[in-house]
Amino acid sequence: MERSPLWIFGYGSLVWRPDFAFVERRTGWIEGFTRRFWQGSTDHRGVPESPGRVATLVRQPGARCWGSVYRVASEARGSVLTKLDHRERGGFVRDEVNVRFPIAPDGFEPSVQAQLYLATPENANYLGPASLTEIAEQVRASHGPSGPNVEYVLELAAALREMEAEDDHVFALEALLVES
Ligand code: SIN
Repeated sequence: MERSPLWIFGYGSLVWRPDFAFVERRTGWIEGFTRRFWQGSTDHRGVPESPGRVATLVRQPGARCWGSVYRVASEARGSVLTKLDHRERGGFVRDEVNVRFPIAPDGFEPSVQAQLYLATPENANYLGPASLTEIAEQVRASHGPSGPNVEYVLELAAALREMEAEDDHVFALEALLVES
């Protein structure tokens, strides 16, 4: 039996560094979530003694979060999910969302069901809210096996700008980081 294709929605590092096999990439948004640098990173952009801060999603009625959605070939489904589960193991769990597109090109559904990786307050690395100044200080000070935490924020901001996506939180954090 043929399985329906797997779609993965990325809103953080998965926007600018997918690093997995996909056959199509599109820009889309999800409703009811906003992006926040509230997740601690002890395995990518920080270390256990000095965690970095990476993006997660927080529920906010009426909000819209832009990101990249990737279609994965049926035969790569298992290997891609295994790889991403490993990459996102620092507190993210898989969930399912409906992704919408600005324009529905001929031959495509105007929305798709996608998997995404979400870090909720229940995980041990969750940091939660802080002022933007505090977040910027922590980001500036943090480095991990995947590189400097600043790189994560600047690359994400550049990718969102490229796709003409709104995100006050990310752009305000970027501004604090580049001005220092
Ligand atoms: C994502 O990018 O969608 C998940 C969080 C991350 O890896 O930064």
